Amino acid sequence: MVKTIKLFGEPVLRTPAEPVVDFDLELRNLVRDLTETMIDAPGVGLAAPQIGVSLRVFTYNVDDEPGHLINPVLKLEGEEEEDDEGCLSLPGLQFPTPRAPRVVASGFNMHGDPVTLEGTELLARCVQHETDHLDGILFIDRLDKKQRKLAMKAIREA
Ligand code: NI
Repeated sequence: MVKTIKLFGEPVLRTPAEPVVDFDLELRNLVRDLTETMIDAPGVGLAAPQIGVSLRVFTYNVDDEPGHLINPVLKLEGEEEEDDEGCLSLPGLQFPTPRAPRVVASGFNMHGDPVTLEGTELLARCVQHETDHLDGILFIDRLDKKQRKLAMKAIREA
């Protein structure tokens, strides 16, 4: 089911999410809702807190290959690079955001099997952005001082 995406200002977006403990039907429904909501938006990634569920789950859809990851732990590689980034919870805003160019993410799929996701470029950026959501961090927090000022101004005017 397509859910309403929570917007900047909602407390759930600033709340660190809880690890998933039960790999049950409810979790599989959550992954399905996240996937459907992400594709409907459309977006390249969506984290559970963005639909109001404070659990460590996100979905991604890079190069038309949708997937999900639960309880992710990231290993970042390489020197940070800036590229334009946006967020479905901050519609219309894009700012150059520093991210590691490569990431190895380990976690679980919705059946509780351990999985490893390796990404570069957009997938690496997406995985870092979505994992940040699980820690209550938004991409505007990662901007340099000048860009963050511009972002806060744009938010006030939105
Ligand atoms: Ni986002």
